[in-house]
Amino acid sequence: MNILGIETSCDETAAAVVKDGRRVLSNVVYTQIPLHVPYGGVVPEIASRAHVEKIREVMSKAMDDFKKTDYCQREKIDAVAVTYGPGLSPALIVGLNAAKGLAKGLNVPLIAINHIEAHLHTPFLADEGDDITTIASPGDIEPALGLAISGGHTTWIDMPKYGTYEIIGQTLDDAAGEAFDKAAKLLELGYPGGPKIDKIAKAHGFENLIRFPKGRPRDGVSALAGLPADLCVSFSGLKTALLRYVQQEGGVRSLEEKGEIERVVASYQEAIVQAVADRTKSALKRKSYKALIIGGGVSLNSRLREVLSRVAASQKVKLLMAKPKYCGDNAAMIAGLAYYRHNLTGNEAMMVDVKPSLEVGETK
Ligand code: KG4
Ligand code: ZN
Repeated sequence: MNILGIETSCDETAAAVVKDGRRVLSNVVYTQIPLHVPYGGVVPEIASRAHVEKIREVMSKAMDDFKKTDYCQREKIDAVAVTYGPGLSPALIVGLNAAKGLAKGLNVPLIAINHIEAHLHTPFLADEGDDITTIASPGDIEPALGLAISGGHTTWIDMPKYGTYEIIGQTLDDAAGEAFDKAAKLLELGYPGGPKIDKIAKAHGFENLIRFPKGRPRDGVSALAGLPADLCVSFSGLKTALLRYVQQEGGVRSLEEKGEIERVVASYQEAIVQAVADRTKSALKRKSYKALIIGGGVSLNSRLREVLSRVAASQKVKLLMAKPKYCGDNAAMIAGLAYYRHNLTGNEAMMVDVKPSLEVGETK
């Protein structure tokens, strides 16, 4: 079964064709990052206009690339999948409308996909030429712990069976990616902050660091909404601590003159990484999991990968991480997960609406 996926939830316009949930036959991602750089973050109106301008081209390219594969000689598109949440409303609408039009035009079902759940599908994707038998498949890893870590989410998810999701921990305020991006803005490193901080921290190393707060919420605070404090993080205190430190040291210029920026950056990243590693370890200790699945843009962070590999090894679980090209937003993850989801047809398909605050587990 070949599914064409469409993704427009934030600042990437993407389309892909995936066979049987795993084999990526085409994958096109147009990133809008350069358009948002001058503003230091994603501007929803600019994002939605750029999606409108690019969506046809991106979908056509994904179809053209699919047509070049051997599969297309004897097979066709069997369904269209699309992200319907969570994300920016005006951005999601562009993808959803394009997907409805295409599904109607091709006379195939529509499959509505949760973006965060799709990030957790990325380690199962295989490219042309990959030996799929060497890549874990969804059935092999039950029960699994999922960690969706991106610009919008930092969420620990219990997955007793593939396709069943329950949030067991999360950030109470900023997502990890947001914490990286805000720090980079404060330190005038540019947007998006995660990759820049990763690179600087790596060059500096992880010795002699400044002690920043570890982001552990207090037991019983109402923001936990019933979730255990040892599975939740709060990054707002860390951000404030960074701001105070910079002010106390006389500002960004003064830190630069003293050659201290790199140490500050490495220390800040380490506080995020250790907070995430600590909560992941607590979650892994609660249940006998077979695997830890990590997805989302922040899973590209080299230090996070290194530290979480150690955590997984110490808890004797298999660590599943996507190839770098599938860590950030893409449509292959949408088309891939769709294979395991319900088809919507006729009126039901045309009535699907975007859900900007869609929760994990609230699957259509
Ligand atoms: O998953 P994604 O592409 O979009 C969302 O769904 O949010 O994630 C984007 C986020 C941004 O906040 C970006 O700074 C962060 O992922 N990111 C990183 C790295 N690469 C991207 N954060 C830390 N280290 C990286 N290497
Ligand atoms: Zn994402």
